[in-house]
Amino acid sequence: MIIAIDGFSSTGKSSVARELAKHFNITHIDSGAMYRAITLYGIRNFYDPISKTINTKQLIQNLNQIILKFEYNPNTSTNEIFIGEENVEKEIRTHIVSQNVSVIAQLPEVRNYLVKQQQMLGKTGDVIMDGRDIGTVVFPNATFKFFITASEQERVNRRYLEISPTNLTREQIKENLRQRDKHDVEREDSPLKKADDAILIDNSSLNKQQTIDLIIDYIEKNNSF
Ligand code: C5P
Repeated sequence: MIIAIDGFSSTGKSSVARELAKHFNITHIDSGAMYRAITLYGIRNFYDPISKTINTKQLIQNLNQIILKFEYNPNTSTNEIFIGEENVEKEIRTHIVSQNVSVIAQLPEVRNYLVKQQQMLGKTGDVIMDGRDIGTVVFPNATFKFFITASEQERVNRRYLEISPTNLTREQIKENLRQRDKHDVEREDSPLKKADDAILIDNSSLNKQQTIDLIIDYIEKNNSF
C-alpha cells in the first residue's frame, strides 16, 4: 500500500502522515525533509554570505556525495533524517533552511536525485509519503492520494506554534509561506498541484485528530486489500 499526501506548507501533512503510519503500521517518509537536508548541506558547504544564496552549480556537482537515510526514533515516533551518520532532523527545521529550500527544490537535478530515492523507498514495503509531488510524479499509481490545504491565516498560526518559542513574527512566517507557495506552485519541474484522482481536504476548521480520522475513515471504507 502506498499513501500519498500532498499539499501546501504548514497544513499539518507531516504530523498527520506520522500518525497515519502508526495507525496502519507502515513507514512514514517526509519527502520535504529530504529537500531540507540537501538545502542544509548547501548552506553548510556552498553558501555565499554576500549574495546570501547557495551556489547551486557547486551543489549540483556534489549531489552524489550527499547520502541521506531515515532512521526510526521510537522516543519521538519519528523517522528521522540523517546526512551520512549525522542526525539533522532538528537543524533542517531552522528558518535559514526554510528560506532557501524552495529555491533548491526547483532544481531539476535535485528533484531527479531525490525522486529516484523516494521511489526506491516505496519499493521496500508499505509507505505513506508526504510532500508536493508524491501523487503526481513520485507515485502516480499510489493506492490512496490526498491533497491537503487550509487558509493562509490558519497555516501561519500552525507554523508559529510549531516553531515556538521563536524570534520570528507572524508577518515573517507569512512571508516565508507565501514565498514557498509561489515557488512550489510556479516551478516548471513537478509543481505543487492536486493529482486529478486525489481527495481534496481543506482542514482550516479541522484539528489534527479530525484530519487523521477523516483519512482513516476514507481508507477503511475504500480499502480492497
Ligand atoms: O514539507 P516541507 O514544508 O518541510 O518541505 C520543504 C520544501 O521542500 C517545500 O517548501 C518545497 O519547496 C519542497 N518540497 C518539494 N517537493 C516535495 C516535498 C517538499 O518541492 N515532495
